[in-house]
Amino acid sequence: MEIETKILSPDSRGIAEAAALIKSGNVVAFPTETVYGLGADALNGDAVKKIYAAKGRPSDNPLIVHIADISHIYKYAENIPDIALRVGKAFWPGPVTMIFKKKDIIPMITSGGLDTVGLRVPANETARTFIRECGCPIAAPSANLSGSPSPTRLRHVICDMNGRIPAILDGGDCAVGVESTVIAFDEQGNICLLRPGFVSVEDIEEATGKTVALAQGVLSKVDESKRVLSPGMKYRHYAPKAKVIIVDGGLPEFAEFMNGREGCAMIFDGDERVYKGNNYIKYGSTPREQARNLFSALRRADELGYSQVYVRCPEKTGVGLAVYNRLLRAAGFEVIVL
Ligand code: TXA
Ligand code: MG
Repeated sequence: MEIETKILSPDSRGIAEAAALIKSGNVVAFPTETVYGLGADALNGDAVKKIYAAKGRPSDNPLIVHIADISHIYKYAENIPDIALRVGKAFWPGPVTMIFKKKDIIPMITSGGLDTVGLRVPANETARTFIRECGCPIAAPSANLSGSPSPTRLRHVICDMNGRIPAILDGGDCAVGVESTVIAFDEQGNICLLRPGFVSVEDIEEATGKTVALAQGVLSKVDESKRVLSPGMKYRHYAPKAKVIIVDGGLPEFAEFMNGREGCAMIFDGDERVYKGNNYIKYGSTPREQARNLFSALRRADELGYSQVYVRCPEKTGVGLAVYNRLLRAAGFEVIVL
Protein backbone atom coordinates (compact mmCIF):
# COMPACT_ATOMS: atom_id res chain seq x y z
CA MET A 1 0.00 0.00 0.00
CA GLU A 2 1.23 3.49 -0.85
CA ILE A 3 1.78 5.84 2.06
CA GLU A 4 2.11 9.60 1.96
CA THR A 5 5.74 10.75 2.03
CA LYS A 6 6.28 14.06 3.82
CA ILE A 7 9.23 16.34 2.96
CA LEU A 8 10.58 17.84 6.20
CA SER A 9 12.77 20.98 6.44
CA PRO A 10 16.09 20.54 8.23
CA ASP A 11 15.05 23.00 11.00
CA SER A 12 14.32 22.13 14.62
CA ARG A 13 10.67 21.31 13.87
CA GLY A 14 11.45 19.09 10.90
CA ILE A 15 14.22 17.27 12.75
CA ALA A 16 11.95 16.75 15.79
CA GLU A 17 9.24 15.26 13.55
CA ALA A 18 11.77 12.96 11.85
CA ALA A 19 13.13 11.85 15.24
CA ALA A 20 9.60 11.15 16.54
CA LEU A 21 9.01 8.84 13.56
CA ILE A 22 12.26 6.96 14.32
CA LYS A 23 11.34 6.60 18.02
CA SER A 24 8.02 5.05 17.02
CA GLY A 25 9.80 2.41 14.91
CA ASN A 26 9.53 3.99 11.44
CA VAL A 27 12.08 4.72 8.71
CA VAL A 28 13.07 8.22 7.59
CA ALA A 29 15.41 9.33 4.78
CA PHE A 30 17.97 11.91 5.92
CA PRO A 31 20.92 13.76 4.38
CA THR A 32 24.56 12.97 5.10
CA GLU A 33 27.65 14.56 3.53
CA THR A 34 28.07 11.51 1.27
CA VAL A 35 24.61 10.42 0.06
CA TYR A 36 21.12 10.37 1.58
CA GLY A 37 20.56 7.54 4.05
CA LEU A 38 17.44 5.52 4.83
CA GLY A 39 17.46 5.44 8.62
CA ALA A 40 15.85 3.43 11.41
CA ASP A 41 16.66 2.68 15.06
CA ALA A 42 19.62 0.29 14.72
CA LEU A 43 18.66 -1.47 17.98
CA ASN A 44 15.08 -2.19 16.88
CA GLY A 45 14.96 -5.25 14.61
CA ASP A 46 11.39 -4.61 13.44
CA ALA A 47 12.23 -1.05 12.42
CA VAL A 48 15.37 -2.22 10.59
CA LYS A 49 13.28 -4.77 8.64
CA LYS A 50 11.35 -1.84 7.17
CA ILE A 51 14.60 -0.50 5.65
CA TYR A 52 15.22 -3.75 3.76
CA ALA A 53 11.57 -3.77 2.61
CA ALA A 54 11.56 -0.13 1.38
CA LYS A 55 14.82 -0.64 -0.56
CA GLY A 56 14.20 -4.16 -1.79
CA ARG A 57 17.62 -5.03 -0.37
CA PRO A 58 18.95 -8.59 0.15
CA SER A 59 18.97 -9.26 3.89
CA ASP A 60 22.57 -10.58 3.97
CA ASN A 61 23.88 -7.10 3.16
CA PRO A 62 24.75 -5.38 6.47
CA LEU A 63 23.82 -1.79 7.31
CA ILE A 64 26.13 0.95 8.54
CA VAL A 65 25.29 2.19 12.03
CA HIS A 66 25.52 5.97 12.36
CA ILE A 67 26.43 7.51 15.71
CA ALA A 68 26.67 11.15 16.81
CA ASP A 69 29.99 10.95 18.67
CA ILE A 70 33.18 8.90 18.57
CA SER A 71 32.80 7.98 22.27
CA HIS A 72 29.70 5.91 21.40
CA ILE A 73 31.76 3.25 19.61
CA TYR A 74 32.32 1.45 22.92
CA LYS A 75 28.55 0.94 23.36
CA TYR A 76 28.22 -1.02 20.13
CA ALA A 77 31.63 -2.52 19.35
CA GLU A 78 34.45 -4.38 21.07
CA ASN A 79 38.11 -5.30 20.37
CA ILE A 80 38.67 -1.79 19.03
CA PRO A 81 42.32 -1.51 17.93
CA ASP A 82 44.35 1.61 18.77
CA ILE A 83 44.83 2.30 15.09
CA ALA A 84 41.03 2.72 14.71
CA LEU A 85 41.06 5.49 17.29
CA ARG A 86 43.76 7.22 15.27
CA VAL A 87 41.62 6.93 12.13
CA GLY A 88 38.59 8.21 14.07
CA LYS A 89 40.50 11.21 15.43
CA ALA A 90 41.76 12.07 11.95
CA PHE A 91 38.55 11.64 9.94
CA TRP A 92 35.47 11.65 12.22
CA PRO A 93 33.04 13.28 11.96
CA GLY A 94 33.37 12.40 8.29
CA PRO A 95 32.93 9.93 5.45
CA VAL A 96 34.72 6.89 6.92
CA THR A 97 33.09 3.67 8.17
CA MET A 98 35.06 1.28 10.38
CA ILE A 99 34.17 -2.38 10.87
CA PHE A 100 34.47 -3.85 14.37
CA LYS A 101 33.34 -6.92 16.28
CA LYS A 102 29.78 -6.09 17.32
CA LYS A 103 28.32 -6.16 20.80
CA ASP A 104 25.14 -8.22 21.35
CA ILE A 105 23.02 -5.07 21.60
CA ILE A 106 23.26 -4.76 17.78
CA PRO A 107 20.64 -7.14 16.34
CA MET A 108 21.67 -9.67 13.68
CA ILE A 109 19.25 -8.12 11.18
CA THR A 110 21.22 -4.84 11.38
CA SER A 111 24.54 -6.60 10.75
CA GLY A 112 23.17 -8.80 7.95
CA GLY A 113 23.86 -11.90 10.05
CA LEU A 114 27.55 -11.02 10.61
CA ASP A 115 29.21 -10.73 14.01
CA THR A 116 30.64 -7.35 13.03
CA VAL A 117 29.24 -3.84 12.79
CA GLY A 118 30.20 -0.88 10.61
CA LEU A 119 30.20 2.42 12.52
CA ARG A 120 30.36 5.95 11.21
CA VAL A 121 30.02 9.48 12.63
CA PRO A 122 28.70 11.61 9.75
CA ALA A 123 29.97 15.17 9.26
CA ASN A 124 26.66 16.59 8.07
CA GLU A 125 25.23 18.82 10.84
CA THR A 126 21.59 17.93 10.13
CA ALA A 127 22.48 14.24 10.29
CA ARG A 128 24.22 14.56 13.65
CA THR A 129 21.47 16.71 15.19
CA PHE A 130 18.90 14.19 13.95
CA ILE A 131 20.82 11.19 15.40
CA ARG A 132 21.26 12.98 18.74
CA GLU A 133 17.57 13.79 18.88
CA CYS A 134 16.60 10.19 18.08
CA GLY A 135 18.59 9.09 21.13
CA CYS A 136 19.62 5.84 19.43
CA PRO A 137 22.15 4.75 16.80
CA ILE A 138 20.73 4.98 13.27
CA ALA A 139 21.14 2.08 10.84
CA ALA A 140 21.15 3.46 7.32
CA PRO A 141 22.02 2.27 3.86
CA SER A 142 21.87 4.70 0.95
CA ALA A 143 18.26 5.79 0.35
CA ASN A 144 17.93 4.39 -3.19
CA LEU A 145 16.10 1.35 -4.44
CA SER A 146 18.52 -1.57 -4.26
CA GLY A 147 20.80 -1.58 -7.32
CA SER A 148 20.05 2.01 -8.43
CA PRO A 149 22.52 4.90 -8.29
CA SER A 150 22.78 6.31 -4.76
CA PRO A 151 20.74 9.48 -4.08
CA THR A 152 22.77 12.67 -3.78
CA ARG A 153 19.90 15.14 -4.36
CA LEU A 154 16.49 15.41 -2.69
CA ARG A 155 14.75 14.63 -5.98
CA HIS A 156 16.60 11.30 -6.27
CA VAL A 157 15.20 10.22 -2.89
CA ILE A 158 11.70 11.34 -3.87
CA CYS A 159 12.02 9.44 -7.16
CA ASP A 160 12.96 6.14 -5.42
CA MET A 161 11.13 6.37 -2.08
CA ASN A 162 7.94 8.37 -2.64
CA GLY A 163 4.99 6.33 -1.33
CA ARG A 164 7.31 3.80 0.38
CA ILE A 165 8.39 5.72 3.51
CA PRO A 166 6.67 8.29 5.78
CA ALA A 167 9.22 11.13 5.54
CA ILE A 168 12.34 12.59 3.95
CA LEU A 169 14.46 15.18 5.75
CA ASP A 170 15.56 17.69 3.09
CA GLY A 171 19.28 18.45 3.19
CA GLY A 172 19.77 19.85 -0.32
CA ASP A 173 22.60 18.44 -2.41
CA CYS A 174 25.15 16.11 -0.77
CA ALA A 175 28.61 17.70 -0.61
CA VAL A 176 30.71 14.57 -1.19
CA GLY A 177 28.50 12.54 -3.51
CA VAL A 178 30.02 9.06 -3.11
CA GLU A 179 29.50 6.82 -0.09
CA SER A 180 31.91 6.58 2.83
CA THR A 181 35.26 4.82 2.72
CA VAL A 182 34.83 1.43 4.44
CA ILE A 183 37.81 -0.10 6.26
CA ALA A 184 38.38 -3.14 8.47
CA PHE A 185 41.29 -4.19 10.71
CA ASP A 186 42.94 -7.54 11.32
CA GLU A 187 44.28 -8.76 14.69
CA GLN A 188 47.65 -7.14 14.03
CA GLY A 189 45.98 -3.77 13.39
CA ASN A 190 46.57 -3.88 9.64
CA ILE A 191 44.07 -1.86 7.60
CA CYS A 192 42.06 -3.29 4.72
CA LEU A 193 40.01 -1.12 2.36
CA LEU A 194 36.61 -2.66 1.59
CA ARG A 195 35.14 0.29 -0.29
CA PRO A 196 37.01 3.41 -1.49
CA GLY A 197 35.47 6.81 -0.75
CA PHE A 198 36.19 10.50 -0.38
CA VAL A 199 38.79 9.81 2.33
CA SER A 200 41.39 8.18 0.14
CA VAL A 201 43.88 5.35 0.67
CA GLU A 202 46.61 7.99 0.53
CA ASP A 203 44.84 10.07 3.27
CA ILE A 204 44.57 7.05 5.59
CA GLU A 205 48.17 6.00 4.97
CA GLU A 206 49.36 9.51 5.77
CA ALA A 207 47.32 9.73 8.99
CA THR A 208 48.34 6.28 10.29
CA GLY A 209 51.75 5.64 8.78
CA LYS A 210 50.42 2.22 7.69
CA THR A 211 49.98 0.66 4.29
CA VAL A 212 46.35 0.08 3.36
CA ALA A 213 45.59 -3.20 1.56
CA LEU A 214 42.80 -3.30 -1.04
CA ALA A 215 40.19 -6.03 -0.54
CA GLN A 216 39.29 -8.26 -3.43
CA GLY A 217 36.32 -6.63 -5.12
CA VAL A 218 37.51 -3.02 -5.03
CA LEU A 219 38.91 -3.22 -8.55
CA SER A 220 37.85 -6.65 -9.73
CA LYS A 221 34.76 -8.82 -9.84
CA VAL A 222 34.17 -11.04 -6.84
CA ASP A 223 33.03 -14.62 -7.19
CA GLU A 224 29.35 -14.39 -6.17
CA SER A 225 29.35 -17.89 -4.70
CA LYS A 226 32.15 -17.01 -2.25
CA ARG A 227 31.99 -15.33 1.13
CA VAL A 228 33.31 -11.78 0.78
CA LEU A 229 34.44 -9.35 3.45
CA SER A 230 31.89 -6.73 2.44
CA PRO A 231 28.71 -8.36 1.11
CA GLY A 232 27.68 -5.13 -0.64
CA MET A 233 30.43 -5.77 -3.18
CA LYS A 234 28.68 -8.86 -4.52
CA TYR A 235 25.75 -7.09 -6.07
CA ARG A 236 25.45 -5.16 -9.33
CA HIS A 237 25.16 -1.68 -8.07
CA TYR A 238 24.76 1.98 -8.80
CA ALA A 239 23.43 1.13 -12.25
CA PRO A 240 20.97 3.24 -14.23
CA LYS A 241 18.67 1.47 -16.71
CA ALA A 242 21.03 2.52 -19.49
CA LYS A 243 23.97 0.21 -20.20
CA VAL A 244 27.17 1.78 -18.86
CA ILE A 245 30.56 1.24 -20.53
CA ILE A 246 33.81 2.78 -19.25
CA VAL A 247 36.13 4.07 -21.98
CA ASP A 248 39.75 4.41 -20.81
CA GLY A 249 41.89 6.66 -22.97
CA GLY A 250 42.90 10.21 -23.90
CA LEU A 251 40.40 12.81 -25.07
CA PRO A 252 41.27 12.78 -28.81
CA GLU A 253 41.02 8.96 -28.85
CA PHE A 254 37.72 9.13 -26.97
CA ALA A 255 36.30 11.66 -29.46
CA GLU A 256 37.41 9.41 -32.31
CA PHE A 257 35.90 6.32 -30.63
CA MET A 258 32.54 8.06 -30.20
CA ASN A 259 32.43 9.23 -33.79
CA GLY A 260 29.20 7.93 -35.35
CA ARG A 261 28.37 5.82 -32.28
CA GLU A 262 24.85 5.78 -30.84
CA GLY A 263 24.25 6.61 -27.19
CA CYS A 264 25.48 9.24 -24.81
CA ALA A 265 29.00 10.28 -23.78
CA MET A 266 29.63 11.04 -20.11
CA ILE A 267 32.58 13.41 -20.25
CA PHE A 268 34.69 15.74 -18.11
CA ASP A 269 33.91 19.47 -18.02
CA GLY A 270 35.91 21.07 -20.82
CA ASP A 271 36.01 17.91 -22.98
CA GLU A 272 33.29 19.46 -25.16
CA ARG A 273 35.98 21.68 -26.70
CA VAL A 274 37.37 18.59 -28.43
CA TYR A 275 34.44 16.16 -28.31
CA LYS A 276 32.06 17.50 -30.94
CA GLY A 277 29.12 15.08 -30.51
CA ASN A 278 25.77 16.48 -29.37
CA ASN A 279 24.79 13.77 -26.93
CA TYR A 280 26.75 14.27 -23.77
CA ILE A 281 26.43 14.71 -20.02
CA LYS A 282 29.28 16.41 -18.16
CA TYR A 283 30.27 15.12 -14.73
CA GLY A 284 32.90 17.59 -13.51
CA SER A 285 36.56 18.33 -14.09
CA THR A 286 38.36 17.40 -10.86
CA PRO A 287 37.94 14.01 -9.11
CA ARG A 288 36.10 15.79 -6.26
CA GLU A 289 33.60 17.32 -8.66
CA GLN A 290 33.21 14.00 -10.43
CA ALA A 291 32.44 12.33 -7.09
CA ARG A 292 29.80 14.97 -6.33
CA ASN A 293 28.12 14.65 -9.76
CA LEU A 294 28.57 10.97 -10.61
CA PHE A 295 25.26 9.49 -9.42
CA SER A 296 23.29 12.50 -10.61
CA ALA A 297 24.83 12.13 -14.09
CA LEU A 298 24.03 8.40 -14.22
CA ARG A 299 20.41 9.14 -13.29
CA ARG A 300 20.35 11.93 -15.87
CA ALA A 301 21.15 9.41 -18.63
CA ASP A 302 17.91 7.60 -17.78
CA GLU A 303 15.93 10.84 -17.56
CA LEU A 304 17.10 11.67 -21.08
CA GLY A 305 16.15 8.19 -22.29
CA TYR A 306 19.57 6.93 -23.41
CA SER A 307 20.09 3.19 -23.63
CA GLN A 308 23.94 3.33 -23.72
CA VAL A 309 26.36 5.58 -21.84
CA TYR A 310 30.09 5.71 -22.63
CA VAL A 311 31.89 7.18 -19.65
CA ARG A 312 35.32 8.78 -19.87
CA CYS A 313 37.41 6.92 -17.34
CA PRO A 314 38.24 8.96 -14.20
CA GLU A 315 41.60 8.94 -12.41
CA LYS A 316 42.26 5.80 -10.39
CA THR A 317 43.99 7.39 -7.40
CA GLY A 318 42.80 9.58 -4.52
CA VAL A 319 39.05 10.34 -4.66
CA GLY A 320 39.17 9.16 -8.27
CA LEU A 321 39.47 5.56 -7.04
CA ALA A 322 36.02 5.86 -5.42
CA VAL A 323 34.51 7.24 -8.63
CA TYR A 324 36.17 4.47 -10.67
CA ASN A 325 35.00 1.77 -8.23
CA ARG A 326 31.34 2.89 -8.50
CA LEU A 327 31.58 3.12 -12.29
CA LEU A 328 33.06 -0.39 -12.53
CA ARG A 329 30.00 -1.73 -10.71
CA ALA A 330 27.55 0.36 -12.75
CA ALA A 331 29.25 -0.98 -15.88
CA GLY A 332 29.33 -4.59 -14.71
CA PHE A 333 33.16 -4.27 -15.08
CA GLU A 334 32.98 -3.52 -18.81
CA VAL A 335 35.98 -1.33 -19.69
CA ILE A 336 37.17 -0.51 -23.21
CA VAL A 337 40.85 0.47 -23.23
CA LEU A 338 41.73 2.67 -26.22
O1 TXA B 1 28.27 7.06 3.07
C1 TXA B 1 27.72 6.02 3.39
O2 TXA B 1 28.35 5.05 3.84
C2 TXA B 1 26.18 5.93 3.23
C3 TXA B 1 25.57 6.97 4.17
C4 TXA B 1 24.07 6.87 4.23
O3 TXA B 1 26.15 6.89 5.42
N1 TXA B 1 25.72 4.62 3.53
C5 TXA B 1 25.91 3.58 2.67
O4 TXA B 1 25.33 2.40 3.08
O5 TXA B 1 26.50 3.67 1.64
P1 TXA B 1 25.16 1.14 2.14
O6 TXA B 1 24.37 0.18 2.94
O7 TXA B 1 24.60 1.55 0.85
O8 TXA B 1 26.59 0.56 1.98
C6 TXA B 1 27.23 -0.02 3.09
C7 TXA B 1 28.41 -0.86 2.66
C8 TXA B 1 27.95 -2.12 1.97
O9 TXA B 1 28.84 -2.43 0.92
C9 TXA B 1 28.05 -3.15 3.11
O10 TXA B 1 28.23 -4.45 2.63
C10 TXA B 1 29.26 -2.63 3.88
O11 TXA B 1 29.18 -1.23 3.79
N2 TXA B 1 29.16 -3.02 5.30
C11 TXA B 1 28.32 -2.56 6.24
N3 TXA B 1 28.49 -3.21 7.40
C12 TXA B 1 29.48 -4.11 7.20
C13 TXA B 1 30.11 -5.11 8.00
N4 TXA B 1 29.75 -5.33 9.25
N5 TXA B 1 31.08 -5.84 7.42
C14 TXA B 1 31.45 -5.64 6.14
N6 TXA B 1 30.89 -4.72 5.34
C15 TXA B 1 29.92 -3.97 5.85
MG1 MG C 1 24.13 1.66 -1.21
